[in-house]
This record gives sequence, C-alpha cells and structure tokens, in this order.
Amino acid sequence: MPIEPSKAFAFASALVIEAGGWAPGPGNCIYCRPYSAGPYASDGSLMESNKFYAAILLAGVLAMIAIIASGMLVHPEELAKPAYPIEGAATPAAGGEAKPAEIEPVAPLLAKADVDHGAQLARQCQACHNFAKGGPNMVGPNLWGVVAGPHDHKTDYAYSDAMKAFKGVWDYESLNKFIAHPQGLVPGTKMGFAGLKKPQDRADVIAWLRQQSDNPPPLPAGN
Ligand code: HEC
Repeated sequence: MPIEPSKAFAFASALVIEAGGWAPGPGNCIYCRPYSAGPYASDGSLMESNKFYAAILLAGVLAMIAIIASGMLVHPEELAKPAYPIEGAATPAAGGEAKPAEIEPVAPLLAKADVDHGAQLARQCQACHNFAKGGPNMVGPNLWGVVAGPHDHKTDYAYSDAMKAFKGVWDYESLNKFIAHPQGLVPGTKMGFAGLKKPQDRADVIAWLRQQSDNPPPLPAGN
C-alpha cells in the first residue's frame, strides 16, 4: 500500500522519505519472525524449549548431588574434651589429662592469712558444703573439724571410691592442693569445683576453715 503524503495530515519527515511503500522483507519487518530469539526452534516449535528447561533441571540436580556429596566427605567430629572448660564445672578425670602446674605451698602464706576474707571466699564452698557444727551433709560432706581430720572424715557421707581410697589426714598442704585443683590431688573425686587459683586465697580459706572446729589444730611451725 503506497504511503501517500496526504495533504490532510502532516506525516513525520521519516515516513515521507520512505515514500514508495511498505516493502515485505527482513529489512523493515520486525514482527515477521517472532521465534528467532529464545528457546524456540526456527519454526517456532516448543521442542527446543523442552531441551532448554531440561538443562536447567539437570543443573539443579547436579547442584544437589554436589551438596550431598560434600556433606559425606566432611565428617563433623565430636570434641573429646570441651574446648572451653567451664569454671566450677566438674571435669572428668581423663587418663591423658595434663599434669597440674606445681602448687605453691601454703604454710608460708598462712602467717599473713586474712580470716575474714577466707570466710567470704568460703561462701562459694557453701553451695555444696555446710560448715556448722552438727550441720547436715549436702552435695558435699559437712566440713566442721575437717582440718587435721582424716580424709573422708564423715562416717555418714557417701564419698566417692576415689576419696575412700585416698588415705591420710587433711593437713595444710594436702588441703591446699585439693582446694587448688581437686582432680589433681584426688583423680576421680566427685567434688565438682574448678579450684581456687590464687595461693593467698587458699591460705585465707584454710585459715578460716581451721577455726571451724572444736579444737583448731596448731598452725604450721613458723607461723
Ligand atoms: C560443687 C560442689 C562443691 C563445691 C563448690 C565445693 N565442694 Fe568440697 N566437696 C564436694 C564433694 C561432692 C565432696 C566429696 C568428694 C568425694 O567424695 O570425692 C567434697 C569434699 C571436700 C573435702 C574433703 C572432705 C572429707 O571429709 O574428706 C574438703 C576438705 C572440701 N570438699 C573442701 C571444699 C572447700 C574449702 C570448698 C570451697 C573452696 C569446696 N570444698 C567447694 C563438693 C563441693
């Protein structure tokens, strides 16, 4: 159909130049081949498009297999020991446990021990121990008169086998070691206490503990 520059309508100059007619053909035909792009065959059939979606599906399946396979290769391992030991929590007595550091003797520190400070520190023991004369056993045994008394000094308390097998008396140095690191002195004890790390704190507690007795034993020579 010829483009007729009409006298009645002002055509754009581009159309005026095209004067001569709409020619069929690829040059100026934008809607003739709608299937020339995308997942369609040149005849516009959907055969090609099925291949296209199959490829996407296959990629997804391969990704899933890769994820599952990587999970099988990397085995998460349980830690034998907690990475961060919790203060105050019981640590099981493991065979390969590191040797506790050398524990400073308490005797020289008892001379300048602060009994009142010891009483304050002993509050953390009271979660498990009663210290009063004739007081009850709790998680741990009543500790009245424990200093210079025998290990497992209470007959009405169920000590661990480890403590029962630990013979001797609670002298100042064994108390010092026990309070510093219970598992270090008596491996397998059921006293679930991490230990008092500061030597002077232990001296203060022991000086106070010594007084919780009908007959406080003498302080070590030199005090
Ligand atoms: C989490 C509870 C707990 C805490 C806290 C605790 N103890 Fe113990 N203690 C025990 C248990 C349980 C035993 C018995 C241990 C055994 O039979 O193996 C024990 C035993 C003892 C013994 C030996 C007693 C005996 O008759 O032979 C002494 C001494 C002792 N504790 C002192 C202390 C002191 C001092 C503190 C504080 C600095 C303290 N404990 C904090 C639970 C505790």
